[in-house]
Amino acid sequence: MDDCVQRLRGIIDNLLDVTGLETGRLRFVHHDYDFGQVVRQAIERRSPMIQERGCRLVFDVPRTGVRGWGDAERLARAVDHLLDNAIKFTPAGGALGVRVRRLATGHFELCVVDSGPGVPAAALEQLFEPFVQGDGSPTRAHGGTGVGLAIVRGIARGHGGEVRCASPANETVAEVLFSGAGFYLVVPERASTPAGS
Ligand SMILES: Nc1ncnc2c1ncn2[C@@H]1O[C@H](COP(=O)(O)OP(=O)(O)O)[C@@H](O)[C@H]1O
Ligand SMILES: [Mg+2]
Repeated sequence: MDDCVQRLRGIIDNLLDVTGLETGRLRFVHHDYDFGQVVRQAIERRSPMIQERGCRLVFDVPRTGVRGWGDAERLARAVDHLLDNAIKFTPAGGALGVRVRRLATGHFELCVVDSGPGVPAAALEQLFEPFVQGDGSPTRAHGGTGVGLAIVRGIARGHGGEVRCASPANETVAEVLFSGAGFYLVVPERASTPAGS
């Protein structure tokens, strides 16, 4: 019962988020934060789930010193969505990679990669639209409502940033090569859009 209620809450929260972001009504609350900490906490939240599925996670995320100004709570949700997808689409025994770095352009880059099947080229363009799923059929293998990536994009843009997908990723994180999907969230270290917009 608890589980059902939690899941329903999750779905409602996501629908509210995507509606708010798409209509531009969602308020961002910017403050000082450390992006490395935000991402490490997200990894901690998901590590039981990753272990349960027999997957392993490697990461290259600075413990401190990635200080920015933005809406850390919403950025955390964006990280959760990317991790959830990587977990969901990676078969048991697979691997996930997470990397954070500061680019010379003054942006933070989060890279989430996996060893799953990746995203078909034809689907790449539509992926970030609300309610779009690679397999939208009622018989599809994976659950979800198709709003996760739209939320990630809305949060990225709310900071003056962007999100993109590369598949196959062919990206090395912590000396492991990943050839599934790769998602890159790039935000300016100081959010370039005002809070509350
Ligand atoms: N890591 C991934 N590997 C493969 N496909 C992915 C991955 N992440 C997202 N996708 C594709 O993008 C679609 C949209 O993702 P999302 O917006 O999070 O919705 P949902 O997770 O509810 O399906 C997914 O249905 C899937 O087809
Ligand atoms: Mg999702």
